[in-house]
Order: sequence, then structure tokens, then C-alpha cells
Amino acid sequence: MADDLSERATRPKVTVPRITTMKGSGELISMITAYDATFAALVDRAGIDMILVGDSVGTVVQGRPSTVGVTLKEMQYHVRMVHRASPQALVVGDLPFGSYQAGIGQAVDSAITLLKAGAESVKLEGGTSVAAQIEAMTRVDIPVVGHIGLTPQSYHRMGGHKVQGKAAGNQAGQRDRLIDDAHAIEQSGGFAVVLEGIPRDLAAEITSKVSIPTIGIGAGPDCDGQVLVLHDVLGLAELPLKFVKHYADMATGTVEATRQFIDEIKAGTWPDDAHSYH
Ligand code: KIV
Repeated sequence: MADDLSERATRPKVTVPRITTMKGSGELISMITAYDATFAALVDRAGIDMILVGDSVGTVVQGRPSTVGVTLKEMQYHVRMVHRASPQALVVGDLPFGSYQAGIGQAVDSAITLLKAGAESVKLEGGTSVAAQIEAMTRVDIPVVGHIGLTPQSYHRMGGHKVQGKAAGNQAGQRDRLIDDAHAIEQSGGFAVVLEGIPRDLAAEITSKVSIPTIGIGAGPDCDGQVLVLHDVLGLAELPLKFVKHYADMATGTVEATRQFIDEIKAGTWPDDAHSYH
């Protein structure tokens, strides 16, 4: 186990070109979110390919109902912490709502802010509607990941976090539009696209139609890679979501450890002499 971990820790640095060539190579891409240095160091050590400093920090860490309120300054702060602790993984900084929708100048400025904080690429939500922003960022060598389907920043349009792409049509969130959105991201220079909360067959169709890697979350197993929110993987988040798997139960572990700590304080058995200075 220790050997396996040290081998993963000394693997080559994951770069944008490396991710691009993974599509079709048979190696699936792994991505997970992290928001601070402690967890970033652990997932990097485990061998993750990409760390997404997601604006899901708004719901997972800040306790907001949606990601809409997250600011660029907050993302800059979290990107800085993750960057310091992620020597191997490719760090993706999420552009929050309101930091790119107003135009290409705003998008490039915001992306530069995250790159200067340590991100090696940025992610934004939308397809055709943000193609100009993606094109402008990639023109100045800022690698961009697209994100379509259940885009959490569209919370108000969707009426909550709702599965998209079930109905045929060209309206936002409909099936044909999502295929166009994926093509728009590819053609404007995005190097990968996150497919979130869409039917498995649609994700498979998009994956076969675009040349860039697709990374799924709630999009079935036929994508070029998968991403989950760290707190879901660790069993820290309590919302029962169909597409989430808890690989650990850290909620129970945390409550139990804290209970023992409280009990030992109350009993006067903590700290004992072995944990005291003399
Ligand atoms: O912010 C985030 O964590 C994300 C993932 C859900 C893909 O965008």
C-alpha cells in the first residue's frame, strides 16, 4: 500500500496536453473537487488526474442553497490553497456566476485572476452562449473546460438542480441544444467538457461526437472520465443523490470521534499525562 502511494505521488505532473491525449487512449480521466490545502494534498497523493476547485464550495462548504452567490474573490482564495498542495494533479479553477457572463473582457480578466492564484486551467458553464468567451480565453493561452447539462449556476432557470437533456429540442437544457453546446465548446477551443446530470445515452452520444474528452457527473459510465464532489465521495454530504457513491463514511467517523473527545473532556481523562509537557 505504501509503495503504491509513493509511486502515485511521484508520477509525472498532469498537464493539459496529457488530458487531451487520454481521450481514445483507453485511460479514463479521474477528477475530484477540493477547496483547501489539506484535502488537495490527500487527493493529489492518491493519484487523481485533475482537481477541480469547484464553485460547489458555495453549497458544500459555505452552506448556500446554490452556487449563484459565490464570488471570484472567494474562488481566488480557494484556488490559492489548493494550488499550494497539488504538485501532480492538473488544477482547474471554476469561474463563478457573474465573472464571465458579461463579455469576453470580463471572462479573460477573471480567468487571469484564477491563473495568477495557481489554477492551470479554468472551467465555465454554458455552451453556445459562452463560445465567444471560450474563444477569447484560449486565444491568450488560457486552457478552458466547458460544462453543460445540469449547470448549477442556472439554478433559477432550471427551477432547482434538475436533470437536463431529457426532451428533444433547441431550448436551453434540451437534448439537441446540448449536442450543439458540446460542439460549440470544442470548436471555440475548450480542451474538455464536463457533462452533468444528463441521460446516459445523451452523454454517450456527445462523447462519440466530440474530439475533446468528456468528464461525466451524473451522466453515466460512457464518458471519457468522471468527476464527483469530494464531500460526496467521503460521505460527508447528507443529500441522497442518485449519481453519488459514498466511498467512505466520514460523517459517522467525524461525529464519533468528536463524541469521544467530548466524553473524555467531560470525564476529565483528556489530556492524560502522556500528552502533557513536563
Ligand atoms: O463546482 C463543481 O464542483 C462542479 C462539479 C459538480 C463538476 O462544477
